[in-house]
Amino acid sequence: MTLRILLLGKNGQVGWELQRSLSVLGELIALDRHSPDLCGDLANLRGLAQTVRTVRPHVIVNAAAHTAVDKAESEPELARTLNALAPDVLAQEAAKLGALLVHYSTDYVFDGSGTRPWIETDTPAPLNVYGRTKLEGERLIAAACPRHLIFRTSWVYGARGGNFAKTMLRLAQERERLTVIDDQIGAPTGADLLADVTAHAIRSVLRQPQQAGLYHLAAGGETSWHGYAKYVLAQTQTAQSTIKLIATVVDPVPTNAFPTPARRPLNSRLDTTKLQDAFGLSLQPWQQGVARMLGEVLRGAA
Ligand SMILES: NC(=O)c1ccc[n+]([C@@H]2O[C@H](COP(=O)([O-])OP(=O)(O)OC[C@H]3O[C@@H](n4cnc5c(N)ncnc54)[C@H](OP(=O)(O)O)[C@@H]3O)[C@@H](O)[C@H]2O)c1
Repeated sequence: MTLRILLLGKNGQVGWELQRSLSVLGELIALDRHSPDLCGDLANLRGLAQTVRTVRPHVIVNAAAHTAVDKAESEPELARTLNALAPDVLAQEAAKLGALLVHYSTDYVFDGSGTRPWIETDTPAPLNVYGRTKLEGERLIAAACPRHLIFRTSWVYGARGGNFAKTMLRLAQERERLTVIDDQIGAPTGADLLADVTAHAIRSVLRQPQQAGLYHLAAGGETSWHGYAKYVLAQTQTAQSTIKLIATVVDPVPTNAFPTPARRPLNSRLDTTKLQDAFGLSLQPWQQGVARMLGEVLRGAA
């Protein structure tokens, strides 16, 4: 039997990598919000339900979301529609078909207190609209569709499009000093890693349905945005690329040095033991994925 997979949000950071990693599992129907024949717009709840009924997928993977954390503060209704109500529709339609629903959530469901990595059973307490709507989405999925995989992740970067590392490289070519937050701690996690783990977990859950559930998924180790920036610049210097960095100093500053509409958690550490044990995976230190992504960026600049 050929597995039919419906992917939503195909052109986001994670969605783009899922187009690659899911293609080997079966027939992939990949949509974005502008897809012409089938509705892939998460704001159109009826259209979304109709798409699932038409495609009749065995697996739905939802990589679309309202991810603009600051903007969500001023458009909470839209954020709730995309991050909670649309996943609920997908969950209800998946349940009717007996399909597996795969969805992504965030460490922003937590309040960022303490220094211990969060485990799946810790009590969420989101600080902002994005986190609240993502948490509601998780809960609606769990209630409507027991056959689900929800991956909470953090600090996602993709090689395609803009990302934090590329921004630091650009600024370091323009300025002598950079100023970067050093009191938010997490693990930069590649969209390619998320996509590869997703494909593996789907295969595994289809054989062992009891593995369905909520998992924390992030690269190994931890750093601050300041540590991340310093790593990017150091790697670039040792790579002897054609990029000429002017910045020699990266000043650490606290989060409150850069006021933003949305409050952000300080402790974004995610404990991934449950995922690694359940699926027999080993999540390598974050530097490995960032070095690989930088290698591609620097080769492109050569
Ligand atoms: N980025 C992070 O640091 C991070 C951290 C933790 C968790 N996550 C979660 O990981 C998942 C993937 O995030 P990502 O980093 O890949 O985000 P992303 O690059 O911002 O991609 C999100 C995608 O959703 C699409 N989208 C927005 N509104 C839509 C609508 N009405 N209908 C259909 N698609 C719509 C966007 O399309 P357009 O480009 O057309 O707007 C975009 O392709 C999300 O669930 C996110 O909450 C992300």
